[in-house]
Amino acid sequence: MTNYIDQNKERFLGELIELLKIPSISAKTEHKADMERCAEFVKRKLLSIGCTHAELCPTAGNPIVYGELIKNPTLPTVLIYGHYDVQPPEPLELWDFPPFEPVIKDGNIYARGACDDKGQFYMHLLAVETLVAQNNLDCNVKFMIEGEEEIGSNNLGIFVKANTQKLKSDIILISDTAILSNDCPSITVGLRGLSYLEVEVTGPNKDLHSGIYGGAVANPINTLCEMIAKMKNDKGEITIPGFYDDVVQLTAEERKALNEAPFDLDAYKKFLDIDEIKGEEGYTTVERTAIRPTFDLNGIWGGYTGEGAKTVLPSKAYAKLSMRLVPNQNSEKITELFTKHFLSIAPKSVKVKVTPHHGGEPAVTPTDTKAYRVASKAFEEIWGKKPIPTREGGSIPIVALFEQELKVKTLLMGFGLNSDNIHSPNEHYGIFNYIMGIKTIVKFFENYNKVD
Ligand code: BES
Ligand code: MN
Ligand code: MN
Repeated sequence: MTNYIDQNKERFLGELIELLKIPSISAKTEHKADMERCAEFVKRKLLSIGCTHAELCPTAGNPIVYGELIKNPTLPTVLIYGHYDVQPPEPLELWDFPPFEPVIKDGNIYARGACDDKGQFYMHLLAVETLVAQNNLDCNVKFMIEGEEEIGSNNLGIFVKANTQKLKSDIILISDTAILSNDCPSITVGLRGLSYLEVEVTGPNKDLHSGIYGGAVANPINTLCEMIAKMKNDKGEITIPGFYDDVVQLTAEERKALNEAPFDLDAYKKFLDIDEIKGEEGYTTVERTAIRPTFDLNGIWGGYTGEGAKTVLPSKAYAKLSMRLVPNQNSEKITELFTKHFLSIAPKSVKVKVTPHHGGEPAVTPTDTKAYRVASKAFEEIWGKKPIPTREGGSIPIVALFEQELKVKTLLMGFGLNSDNIHSPNEHYGIFNYIMGIKTIVKFFENYNKVD
């Protein structure tokens, strides 16, 4: 197996480069045709690696690529999930290379989607190619690669609910997360949920001269900032009443285990060019990003932001904000709690409108399953080290939905690094991680049907 992968390494990279050239940005409607082209690319590859069936399943949005390789209905079935859509690449001027013209430099491949998630889901197609080529696949494989993960997976949710039989499987395998480092492999066993909203604050009915009216009329940007400032106290706790009610507190042992993962605070600060970290009192950095909820602004705007100065007291101010959620918080409930609280702290001098965007539930995946044991062993064999179970701060809302609708557990076997700049300029993926990932996935499949 290792031979086949090493011999085909250049082609494996070449194929990923072609995939990365397609600007499949789900957030922008102008890329509709690119989404189709990208889905077709994935479908063609599924057929070429031996899928007995592959199709583009239309949705109200971008198509879902579905494929299956059914060897024998009595064998166990692994369902592979990934996403072919990517985040918008902006701000373009901060990229060292154009985001859709992949470049290999210092052992990394640079492009939007290199790690999240094209480079990661494509490893699975190549792993299955390897297994088929060596006549070594002894389970059934289903693929479901969607095109709307980065915008909330709403249509995938509908598809999953309507196709429980088609998606019948024993385990769902996803590579869309990270390992701790190349020296310390890990398996993700928890993800945070998300509530995403937008707020609009309206003051006077028109923009005003800030000299004529300033000091006497509420400035909606000032007011928005004051309201936002009230959302956290000086311990870094979120002040929305009831916000923490459902949060599961980890036991002392669980917290100890979580903090055993290596973490270098100096390297962390250096990577981010910050002099000090900041977060909720009483929790470590690992805990703050794994098992504690957050409140963050994602964007704030209003008034004049063009060149030079304009003395204006604006009519409106806006913000996009999100809360990361942990077990057992519920995104709908949190969205409601936020809305109620935010409206309640609005002064009479402004009007406030809250619009929910999307949400997703947190997930915890089990370590006492055959799939986890097989994955752990695969890491040990390929990386020479037993992987550490870790919880990650990002969200893949569909994981909770898989469990709820399909009653199937997920195994999060990601191979990215937190330094890969996903969602950020200069996203990249290590060629080492790409190749090691393929080898680890092949090992997983080789052992999945042998271990109890
Ligand atoms: N692959 C990420 C999720 C992720 C990143 C998990 C890092 C663990 C570590 C995924 O593509 C993503 O970006 N998810 C979004 C949520 C979605 C609803 C837009 C996120 O986490 O912001
Ligand atoms: Mn992703
Ligand atoms: Mn993402």
